[in-house]
Amino acid sequence: MPIVLRLRSAVAGLALVGLAACGSATTDSNVGRFTGVSTTVPVAGNTASSSGDAAAGKAIFDGTTALAGAPPCLSCHVVDAAKPQTVGPNLAGIGAHAATRVAGQSANAYLHSSIVDPNSYVVDGFAQGLMFAGYGDALTPQQVDDVVAYLLSLQ
Ligand code: HEC
Repeated sequence: MPIVLRLRSAVAGLALVGLAACGSATTDSNVGRFTGVSTTVPVAGNTASSSGDAAAGKAIFDGTTALAGAPPCLSCHVVDAAKPQTVGPNLAGIGAHAATRVAGQSANAYLHSSIVDPNSYVVDGFAQGLMFAGYGDALTPQQVDDVVAYLLSLQ
């Protein structure tokens, strides 16, 4: 019997640790022993997040939302891995590899500067100055965020 009891309390202890790790409020005094452990664990350390709206970003990319004085991204980029690239790089999968372009730059930061300052980093095999450089003026900061959210969704 003592063994069974010990097993039971071990299981109960694990359950309490599980609860504490999830940050659930509990008044059980046993949990008080874990006060040295932070329960505010980041839920998802996802650096590829954006505050933009991907659907609105796609509409800008495709030209469904017209931009005064600026061409739609689709006029130079395809987003389908099965299609050959056009003027600019094929952006299929850009959400997955944007973070690998510039050391120390997150996917989000890289995509932002690719849009508003395209010559800050020029993709291998492409000429500098080829990408339309006026999006910083043609798009509002929110629209840039929206396009970034759309590009991040292209995994
Ligand atoms: C006039 C053609 C043209 C237009 C329009 C254009 N781009 Fe580009 N884009 C390019 C070229 C060429 C490159 C590669 C050279 C460079 O890096 O600047 C490029 C590079 C990029 C890259 C970097 C890709 C990589 O593989 O790292 C991103 C992201 C990008 N463009 C997004 C956009 C978005 C979003 C728009 C619309 C808001 C857009 N582009 C409009 C021509 C264009």
